[in-house]
Parts: sequence; C-alpha cells; structure tokens
Amino acid sequence: MTHPDLFAPPPSPAKRIAALRAELDLHDHRYYVLDAPSIPDSEYDKLFRELQALEAAHPEFLSPDSPTQRVGGKPLEQFVSVRHKVPMLSIRTETDTEPTGAQNFDARVRKELGLADSDPPVEYVCELKFDGLAMSLRYEHGVLMQAATRGDGEMGEDVTQNIRTIRQIPLRLPATAPAVIEVRGEVYLSRADFEALNERQREKIAQGAKGEKTFVNPRNAAAGGVRQLDPAIAAERRLSFFAYGVGDITLPEQGGPVFDTHFELLQTLEKWGFPVAAQTRTAQGASELIAFHQAIGRQRDSLPYDIDGVVYKVNSLALQQKLGFVSREPRWAVAHKYPAQEQLTTVLGIEVQVGRTGKLTPVAKLAPVFVGGVTVTNATLHNEDEARRKDVRVGDTVIVRRAGDVIPEVVSVLPDKRVPGAPLFTMPRTCPVCGSAAVREEGEADYRCTGGLFCAAQRKEAILHFAHRRAVEVEGLGDKLVEQLVDAHVIRTLPDLYKLGFTALASLDRMADKSANKLLEALEKSKKTTLPRFVFGLGIRHVGEATAKALARHFGQLDAIMDATEAQLLEVDDVGPIVAKSIRTFFDQPHNREVVEQLRACGLTWEEGEPAARAPQPLSGKTFVITGTLPTLGRDEAKDLIEAAGGKVAGSVSKKTDYVVAGTEAGSKLAKAEALGVAVIDQAALLALLEPSEN
Ligand code: IVH
Repeated sequence: MTHPDLFAPPPSPAKRIAALRAELDLHDHRYYVLDAPSIPDSEYDKLFRELQALEAAHPEFLSPDSPTQRVGGKPLEQFVSVRHKVPMLSIRTETDTEPTGAQNFDARVRKELGLADSDPPVEYVCELKFDGLAMSLRYEHGVLMQAATRGDGEMGEDVTQNIRTIRQIPLRLPATAPAVIEVRGEVYLSRADFEALNERQREKIAQGAKGEKTFVNPRNAAAGGVRQLDPAIAAERRLSFFAYGVGDITLPEQGGPVFDTHFELLQTLEKWGFPVAAQTRTAQGASELIAFHQAIGRQRDSLPYDIDGVVYKVNSLALQQKLGFVSREPRWAVAHKYPAQEQLTTVLGIEVQVGRTGKLTPVAKLAPVFVGGVTVTNATLHNEDEARRKDVRVGDTVIVRRAGDVIPEVVSVLPDKRVPGAPLFTMPRTCPVCGSAAVREEGEADYRCTGGLFCAAQRKEAILHFAHRRAVEVEGLGDKLVEQLVDAHVIRTLPDLYKLGFTALASLDRMADKSANKLLEALEKSKKTTLPRFVFGLGIRHVGEATAKALARHFGQLDAIMDATEAQLLEVDDVGPIVAKSIRTFFDQPHNREVVEQLRACGLTWEEGEPAARAPQPLSGKTFVITGTLPTLGRDEAKDLIEAAGGKVAGSVSKKTDYVVAGTEAGSKLAKAEALGVAVIDQAALLALLEPSEN
C-alpha cells in the first residue's frame, strides 16, 4: 500500500508551523473551552514538540501568538499602569435575594423606557455573575496585545504576561474580527483548581517551606495569580476565563461585524473561541428573570466554580444606549445576588474526627449559621498546621466559607473578638476513636491512627483491604457487603468475619441463602493463605505488596516480623526508616497484635520458612538499658548500634535486662541494676560486645 503523501514534497517550514499552530489552537479550544478533547495528551505533546523544534530551527518565524509562547516571559520588576479607552464600569447590585429583586429591576427599566403595562415584555440576557476579577483583553488586528485589570475603572494594570498563560483565552482571532476589540470578562479559579492549589500549599507548609500560605477563597487565589510578577507562577495557578462583554471596538463602518443585541455579541465571542457560560440565555420580562434566578440557584452548588449571583442585561444594544448610565453604573444591567458563601459565627468546640484511612482531622463545631444556602454546624480545620496557622480557638468568632459541595471551612479568625485565656488547640497524640497512638510522619501534614486493624473508624477499610484479591482474598466480599455487615453490627473486627454463621448472614437484607453459602465457602478457602498475603492484608501504612514479600522473605516467620526492631527491619531490602518505623508502631499497638492472634486462632494458616541467611547478630536476644552520659556516643547513637547488632533497648531496668550501659551521672537505673544483679558495663565494654565473636 502506498501512502498518498509519500511522493508529495514536504511542506515548507513556514507552512508546517502555521498548520501546527492552527491545529494546537483547535485542540486547546476543544480541551480548555469545550471540555471535549479529541486527541490524547501524548499526541498533543508530540505536535507541540514538533512546533517547538521548528520554531527553534527557524527563529525568523517565531510569533507571540504561537501556542508555544504562552509562558515564556521573564519575571517583571513591577506592573505598568494602563488607561482604559472605555472605562470598566461596575453594575448595580440588587441585594434583595428574593424574586422581588428581579421585579424591581424590570419595573425600573420599563419606567425609564416609558413603557406602559400593555406594552410587550422587555427582552433580557441572563448571565452568571462569576466570582473572580474583571479583565479587559485588547486585540489589535486579531492579535492579543494587552490584558489589563479593572483597577479603579479608569486605570488598571498591564498583566498581559500572566493572562497569556490562560489557555482558554485565544491569542488571536479570526480574520472577520474587528481591527480593534476589547473583550471583557472574568478571570476565575475553578473550585477543583482552588482545592488542588491549597492542597499543594498545605504540603509545602508541612515540609517547612517559608512564606507559603493557603488561600482564603478562589477569588483571592485568582487575584493573587493575576498579580504575580513571574508568569511561571501565574501559569501554575491554572486560571480560567469567561467572556461577558466588550469595551473598545472599531466602528462597523471600519469593517467587522455589526451587532444589534448583546446576545449576538456573546454568540460571536463564543464562535471566536472565548468561553461563554453555557447557562447564558435570553428571557422575556420579569417572570423569566425570576425563573432563571431560581433555576441557577438550584444549580449553584454543583457548578464547578463560584458565582455570587446572576446578571440581567437588556438585550437590545439600541435600548441599552437609550437607558444610559447613572453614576458610572449602567441602567440596563443589574446583579441579582444569592445568599453569601461566607458568614461570621462562633466556635463552640474543636473535635478531632478519624477518617476511613485513619487520618485525623480537626473540625470546628460552630454555632449554627446560614451560609451558601444551608445551615452549617461543622467546618474543617484540615490539619494541625492549618489549625495552628489560623490559630482557631474555642470561643473565637470566625469567618466560615461554604461553596459548592465542598466541606465548609474556617477561613480566618477575628482576633479582636477572642475570649481572654482561650487555650491553644493541640492535636491529640492518641486516636479519639480507639486510643491507639496517633503519629505524624516527617514531611506529612496529617496525624494518623496506628490502630488500623482495631479502630472502629477504619473498620470497613481494614476489612476491605484484608479481603482484597491481592491480599488474603475473600471472594465476593466487596464494599457494599462490608458496609452492610459493619452497619448491621454483624461484624466489628476482622476476626468476626471468620466467626460468621449461616443464620446471621442469611438474615441480612438482600442476602440469598446461596450467596450466604458462597461467602462462607470463600471465607473457609481464604484461611489457607501465604505469609506475604497476610502481611499485606494487615494494611500497615507504607507496606505494599512488594514490601510484604520482602519482609516475608527476610524474616520467614510472622513472629519475627512482629518482634523485629526498627534496625532489624532496616536490613530488609526495600525498607527505609519511614517504613520501618511504621511497621514497628503498628505492632506496638496491643490491639493490632490481639487481632493478629485472633485471626490465627480462627484458623488462618500459612507456611513459614527459615529467615534468609544473614550475618550473625552478636547481640540478638539481648536487652539493654542505657543510663547517664556516655563519653562519646549519644543516646540515640548507642541505641542504633545495639539494635543494628540485633539487640533491644528498653526504657527501664528489670530482671529481663541483660546489660545496663552506664555513663557519668547515672542515677536510679544504675542503683536498680545493682540491686537486681544485672551486669553493668561502660561504653568501651559495649563497643567490645558489638565486635562479631571470633568463632
Ligand atoms: S458586566 C457595564 N457581567 O461583576 C457592566 N460583570 O460590578 C460591566 N461580573 O467586577 C460588567 N460576572 O467583573 C458583568 N456576567 C457578568 C459578570 C460581571 C461577574 C463582575 C465584573 C465586575 C462586577 C461588576
């Protein structure tokens, strides 16, 4: 088969560059505006790289409207002021959130236009009122030349570099566009991009980054992004844009389209590639405005971005002109609001909740407050650092924010209203549900409960994980069934699974006798498992399948894994300090050990083997206690050395202690050792013990 293009001459670089740009623009539009990509990312990247390479080889064809040039500028020293050719006005806000708000506006418009009750309804365009910041995009001869903030309406700031990074904004317009046009609209951050940004910020803070903070709401984060001097940082924010009007525009007689209505104008902007909200529509008279306000009010929570209301605009541009302005606000438009998404309330208490995976989250209990359309009584404080940074205390007056289906959160505290003596919030060091140790690993923001097998909050997750196909595998035990078994109190802990009888199972809703028997069979079958599957199934944090296998290979037996010191665990391939610590902490929880024992008692078995050969451990089986100041070794160093040689270090002296290592100023532990007849040695003797024996 011959390829049709095989004998055609290759296109000139200029032609290929133009074709690639057009194709990438199209894909950007499909991806960012229409939300309907037609090629995979990898294919897009290939085209993008080809264009980059061609432009690098032919710098004479470089052009600022190329998709490769969206982020490229150097950080600015400061922003330059811009005078708007056509001022950027604001709209009058109808604060009445009831339907009467729309009626008031329609009545005013009709009165100004001198319409009688018998005249037909006025036609309006209904839009969303986006909660971001206004932007004016100036295109000259079809190329984006300047993006400016609103500022005071007369003078704004030139933020072109940052706005070019927004891939929803076309860098050039079709040839049919007027010679000059300013497209006006709103730069905003979607809720998902806002949450992701704050999550990244919280991680940075947890890792000790200085000067980083989380953002109060999407609008503030968007405004901060627009005002970044470094366009690379602005690009990371993933800002978005909606068009809702025009400013300066070449008169029709100088070429370009003629618009009679605002709606036609929006449709044209959409055709040119600008995002225009899909909800935008025309409406006849007050009753349809009210219907729009109510319909959008119901959708508000599920929209992917914040809105604070809707906007009504008279559709006919001729009527708009007739209506004109009062004190810098057009008479032909109004913003009709919804209940605010931020409100003041007081903190009644701070509770710590435990998630399905053991994550501890501090939650502020609030005096009930109506915010974002619902009554809120709980707001998340995310984690210890966030709670501390915001310094939320019981009794405080705080701003709560609830937008969309996102969990309400405390945005900030009003410090002047603090009750004197309110204590600082501290995270508990034990799980409030099961009492196991709660630990926070280095570089992580969250505390976690370590009682994974026992903790009621983690029960469902623990059982599901244990029953997973790659763990102990209980066929047919999926999330729905686990949910049902736990909620009906048929099982509380893992071992309960193996105590299930036919009657209990068959009495569950929607459980046929046949399925009950099947599950019992699957449970019976799962009892014969392997050590790696069992260890993986315990759901120890950081112990995946590979680590479970490495542990089984290294230690051969479950008891050896359960009793291994951190130092011994570190000898296992694949196990680093974080994993070793996590395993040790897990088996240090008496509840977890108990569950393991019960599972064995229920008949779970696996083959155990000999530990893999390793160097002889001179101190294995010996227990040490360190007291006083050693001449050169620090406490931790001495402990590490002992553990690496297979020994254990305990905190107090008992009959089981083999050696007490004493330095200067050793106190009661030394006395106790002498009383019990335990061998007391010094640092030199310890170091001698560490040498492997001659034979
Ligand atoms: S029209 C002359 N339409 O609301 C009318 N503004 O006070 C100019 N806004 O900060 C504005 N959504 O950025 C208009 N669909 C919409 C809007 C909208 C949000 C913002 C605008 C400005 C404020 C108007």
